[in-house]
Amino acid sequence: MEIYLDNQPYASIDVDALVTYVFDREHNLDGVLGEIDRAMNGRLSLLARSGELTGKSLETVLLHFPEGLAAKRLLLVGAGKPDKFVAGSDLRKIAGTALRFLKPRGPKKMAFLAGEGERGPLAAEAIVEGLIAADFESDKYRSERKNRAVDSVALVGFDRGSGLAEAIDRARVIGESMNFARELINEPSNKLTPRMLAARAEAMAQEAGLGIEVLDERKIAELKMGALIGVAQGSVEPPRVMVVRYTPANPRPGAPVLGLVGKAVTFDTGGISIKPATNMEKMKYDMGGGATMLGAMRALAALKPSISVICVVPATENMPGGRAQKPGDVQVAMSGKTIEVINTDAEGRLILADAVFYARKLGATHLIDAATLTGAIEVALSNVHVGAFGTPREYLDRFLESAKAAGEKMWPMPIDDEYEEMIKSNIADIRNTGSGKGGGASTGAWFIKEFVEDTPWVHLDIASTCWIDEGRPWLAKGPTGVAIRSIVDFALKM
Ligand code: BES
Ligand code: ZN
Ligand code: ZN
Repeated sequence: MEIYLDNQPYASIDVDALVTYVFDREHNLDGVLGEIDRAMNGRLSLLARSGELTGKSLETVLLHFPEGLAAKRLLLVGAGKPDKFVAGSDLRKIAGTALRFLKPRGPKKMAFLAGEGERGPLAAEAIVEGLIAADFESDKYRSERKNRAVDSVALVGFDRGSGLAEAIDRARVIGESMNFARELINEPSNKLTPRMLAARAEAMAQEAGLGIEVLDERKIAELKMGALIGVAQGSVEPPRVMVVRYTPANPRPGAPVLGLVGKAVTFDTGGISIKPATNMEKMKYDMGGGATMLGAMRALAALKPSISVICVVPATENMPGGRAQKPGDVQVAMSGKTIEVINTDAEGRLILADAVFYARKLGATHLIDAATLTGAIEVALSNVHVGAFGTPREYLDRFLESAKAAGEKMWPMPIDDEYEEMIKSNIADIRNTGSGKGGGASTGAWFIKEFVEDTPWVHLDIASTCWIDEGRPWLAKGPTGVAIRSIVDFALKM
């Protein structure tokens, strides 16, 4: 999809569809809408007064062959109440909704008109991210794919200069990196084993100019990653650990090193503590955290933060079998801590235990992990917010500022010492599930913290936000690419 800047008068833009947005109860049309209304001899005001054009959030009204305009269609997208409008996140949704509305209807050339207040680089960035994310479809393996595509989008009326071109480039990189992660998350487990994921990461790193090392089962054994090996031993597919590195041109000595760690269980059956059959097919997306971090690295390679970033992605299947670990087994993690495996389905925290420890060993001074870790986070936050844990609190708060800037909903979750009590074991140092009632997302986080120790750390539980079962007007159903924008914003500001 080509995206370019255009500054023709609105009436003479010759495209298949001209798109703009209307606020709730906006009867006195001015600005962009006023100009269009004048070109259309007042027909837009007539429409507004008829009550059909409500401006309700993401409601669409499509006019064919609008008189007075060169465009073949005029699409008006509702922007909701002006006092509730947040330029970044709402423009992203409006642009995405417009693209997904038009795509199946055939237009090839689209133009997007921004309102007076929304013509700077931040607005352009949100619109371009929204367009690119909206273009992703999850029907890769369908024989007859609906391959109707919008070929080009003109952004009209933007203030040239002031970093506009850079903002558009940045948005393209971020949008495409989200889609790169979504491609991976969408793959079924027979098309994406740990080895295949490592090959995809290698290809990405090569193309993006990142360093990469893939640890195989021999190296993993040599490093004594006992917690990861315990999970992997039930599968015939060997585990892999990807280590992807970004180094800035002039690294400052003593500067912080950001470690990004992502859970990549390419299929989670639960192991011997096996999951019920209903919905088990969804456990192909249990590598969402790993894909998120690889997507973030892909973006950072192009956006070039001033700090070093090191990404560690442990990948394995979680399978039952003759060699599988069993409830009650004790594993020795790379750090030396012993773990009583109460439930083999709490495998994400096991592989993260070794991965966060290894990231620290490789020099990470600050950590972020992302993982589809617990069903409990869905109970707490549904598919609305990412659960964000972290210590110290100031570090978590800084991350939440980035989430806000990126327009991603995340909510701070508790990891008080009481949750630590719940993962004490009778036989080993810690157990992999909480012994108390409830608090499953927090005990999961505490388990990871046992290996993070005092390193500043954010843990993102994306179990309920990394995948949506129902499409949204601006996003296909399936993988969402959540958290990438926030992580990239954070790394660039660090
Ligand atoms: N991969 C699951 C968590 C999950 C659930 C992800 C739903 C996406 C959607 C994780 O490995 C798991 O099974 N967690 C258990 C932990 C429990 C045994 C302590 C859970 O949440 O039930
Ligand atoms: Zn599990
Ligand atoms: Zn899992």
